[in-house]
Amino acid sequence: MKPFLTRLWRNFCLMLANQPSLTLYFLPLLQRLWPGFLPGLYRARLVSQQWQTSDMLLLTLKVSGRWPGFVPGQHIVLTLQHNGRYLSRPFSICSSFNLWQSRRQIQLCCKVSNTGEFTPLLSQLNTTSVLNISQAQGDFHWRQPALPAVFIAAGSGITPIAAMLLSQRHWLAPVSLYYRVRGKENAALLSELEQLAARQPLFSLQLSDSSTTPPATLQQQVVANAANKQFYLCGPAAFMAQTRAALVGSGVDAADIQQEQFGLAMPAMTIDSADGQVVSGHFISAGISKAVALNRQQSLLQNAEQHGLSPRFGCRVGVCFQCVCDKVSGQVRDIRNGALSGHGAEQIQLCVSQPVTELVIKL
Ligand code: FES
Repeated sequence: MKPFLTRLWRNFCLMLANQPSLTLYFLPLLQRLWPGFLPGLYRARLVSQQWQTSDMLLLTLKVSGRWPGFVPGQHIVLTLQHNGRYLSRPFSICSSFNLWQSRRQIQLCCKVSNTGEFTPLLSQLNTTSVLNISQAQGDFHWRQPALPAVFIAAGSGITPIAAMLLSQRHWLAPVSLYYRVRGKENAALLSELEQLAARQPLFSLQLSDSSTTPPATLQQQVVANAANKQFYLCGPAAFMAQTRAALVGSGVDAADIQQEQFGLAMPAMTIDSADGQVVSGHFISAGISKAVALNRQQSLLQNAEQHGLSPRFGCRVGVCFQCVCDKVSGQVRDIRNGALSGHGAEQIQLCVSQPVTELVIKL
């Protein structure tokens, strides 16, 4: 839509429903008609689940025909409903592009942590479960398949790398995968990768056992044969930082090293300190107004919690709409894209809104 029409539509929605979009207004009705509908997300039905290792669960999802697809190496945000709340976590797609093209299915290999809030729920899903997924995100992908490449994965960092390797149709240059994991029994997706190595002479797979081999040994191996290669790293931050430093130290151009940064790219936007770090505001909860100092570097959800309030929330990253509430007056900034709101009454998402001017918020 042209900017003028977009503004006109937004103002129309604000006038009619006090919201910048009518979708939220009609959400309860839409969810009755289409169970599992969430604006901006796509439905995905669980087809099967299978333990790959003692703590890595492979989910196969049949995704909506409207889902626009992915580039191998990208991740999605998976959202599920639990006890009336929506919870979301990012996961890399680990399956081949061909699986999506031929069957509209994707696979996620998820590390289940018994102490976490989200991942234990995954093992309780069944084949009637309808989940939501976001569009595929991220720019970690195999850039130049015609050049020799080295992939280095540690632990669950294998997932985006497996998607890239398993999706490759035409092998044009030698490719090595170093897969670092605590014992073969903890190597998720190993059988698919071993099969690939058996049928593709240009692909070699090497396991590095982290319980017996120090990281420096793997790094020396990689560095010894690093000339004229592209590198792709995915794993824990400290492991990637060490490996990257070893590669750059041995003369590899930093531009030839790609690495995946897990997590949602949603840092709080930095406000110029000349504008002041704090603005005043009021949170109105159960009819009682509380005067507060609002930190402009933080989301309104964080601000409210720091003042002892407990607004409703789910994902904390802007996808579940559990934290929608009324802004009575003042201006906020959308953390995801920097867009500024109007100054009047409208509904906002607390978790992705930062204060810009003095605010009155009804929780
Ligand atoms: S908590 Fe999910 S959108 Fe804010």
